Amino acid sequence: MTGHEELLQIAADIAAEAGELILRRRREGVEIAASKSSVEDVVTRADRESEQFIRERLLAARPNDGFLGEETGAEGGSTGTSGLTWVVDPIDGTVNYLYDIPAYAVSIGVVEGEPDPATWTALAGAVVNPVLGEHYTASRGGGARLNGRVLEVNRDVAPNVALLGTGFSYTASRRMEQAAVLGALLGTFRDVRRIGSAALDLCSVASGRLDAYYESGLKPWDQVAGALIAAEAGATVAGFDGAPATTQLIMAADAPLLAVLERLLVEQGFATPIG
Ligand code: IPD
Repeated sequence: MTGHEELLQIAADIAAEAGELILRRRREGVEIAASKSSVEDVVTRADRESEQFIRERLLAARPNDGFLGEETGAEGGSTGTSGLTWVVDPIDGTVNYLYDIPAYAVSIGVVEGEPDPATWTALAGAVVNPVLGEHYTASRGGGARLNGRVLEVNRDVAPNVALLGTGFSYTASRRMEQAAVLGALLGTFRDVRRIGSAALDLCSVASGRLDAYYESGLKPWDQVAGALIAAEAGATVAGFDGAPATTQLIMAADAPLLAVLERLLVEQGFATPIG
């Protein structure tokens, strides 16, 4: 196994175990532990338990690596000494989890460099939807897979028959801005989906369940593994003007469709992205 494949195996195994854990907890009944940025932005006991579990397992396997997780954030993270950092969302799609909508996932990615999407190099990632038993994986240069099957993004899709995914912030004023931009895009694309998990949105571009996706205001843990999976399936994953995707803006699609999406977003004043 190459170095990246070893990292991928660790990510895939731990994400699968954490997926089983959150599924068990879901069957026992969800308990809200706290609200975060707003009352809508909740954290469940399972989010915390899953993150703790993943962190312990990663530390045991890779004691010299850093850790950045959604529930403990930058303050609760660790830098490590190896130059690699694990970036973890213990439940991406927490609101779906709360409502038992089967679109939530454990997302584990590992990056070289600062854990910032604008500068990092993602090496491996795994996204597991435990309800559907769907395990998405990718390693840098090694392609993307769903349950072992090689994935390829949909090619040469005209905008009017393209299915577009996006998501919204938890802050009311930002949601209104995001909705206004989305309203302007609706006339161009076949339709729009708000799946409720950025990790699964990106994996959906990889698997062809979505033709394109964009979102503003994600956090590193929402996007690291999914962005690598989409890119390894052949999607262009970027911010404006070919710049790397950031927490301010991520777009993912086959290159020609991404160019159309980018032009429309610029026309909507999105070049100064909203978050
Ligand atoms: C959220 C989901 C959602 C996206 C939000 C994220 P969480 O993550 O990925 O699809 O639109 O921006 O915050 O809170 O469920 O981990």
